[in-house]
Amino acid sequence: MRLAHGDLLMSDSILVNTSTELETDGLGRRLAVRLFPGAVIGLVGPLGAGKTRLVRAIASGLDIADARVVNSPTFVLIQEYAARLPIYHFDAYRLKSDAEFLDLGAHEYFGGQGVCLIEWADRVASCLPDDRLTIAIEITGATSRRFHLTAGGPRHQAIVLTAEA
Ligand SMILES: Nc1ncnc2c1ncn2[C@@H]1O[C@H](COP(=O)(O)OP(=O)(O)O)[C@@H](O)[C@H]1O
Ligand SMILES: [Mg+2]
Repeated sequence: MRLAHGDLLMSDSILVNTSTELETDGLGRRLAVRLFPGAVIGLVGPLGAGKTRLVRAIASGLDIADARVVNSPTFVLIQEYAARLPIYHFDAYRLKSDAEFLDLGAHEYFGGQGVCLIEWADRVASCLPDDRLTIAIEITGATSRRFHLTAGGPRHQAIVLTAEA
């Protein structure tokens, strides 16, 4: 079915509620199905929101050998994982400036063959491509989370459309 222009605009942004970590894992796996080389996902939300948890679930969906290697890097600003598509996992929490982020070679990763997943994306928003998927996570309870997914451009729209359970 071909969607009218208005429908597509409406679908640029959706909400997904999960009431358990397993449901969050399901969301991550659904997102992974639609990822493509050069996809960029910015994750936003407070400490403990579930940014790393979602990255791990996406990595599972991309058939990473052992998803346990995905965690919040303590000193490392970027971690690379081999999977169906290479995964570049950034954590901007400790970055002091946009320049530091760009010095990591961020732009080369965005245009590369892998998918970029950036925690604390709001801190480096001006460095990110407009056509990206932004996922803002709200803590709604001890085991529940609300995910606001917004596609910033056409390449990432399809991911949003399939994220709904
Ligand atoms: N529905 C849920 N989805 C994701 N994480 C959840 C959920 N419920 C509880 N949690 C817990 O919230 C924490 C999220 O931690 P983490 O992913 O490291 O957060 P962040 O990277 O945003 O700081 C984990 O301890 C996880 O077990
Ligand atoms: Mg984290």
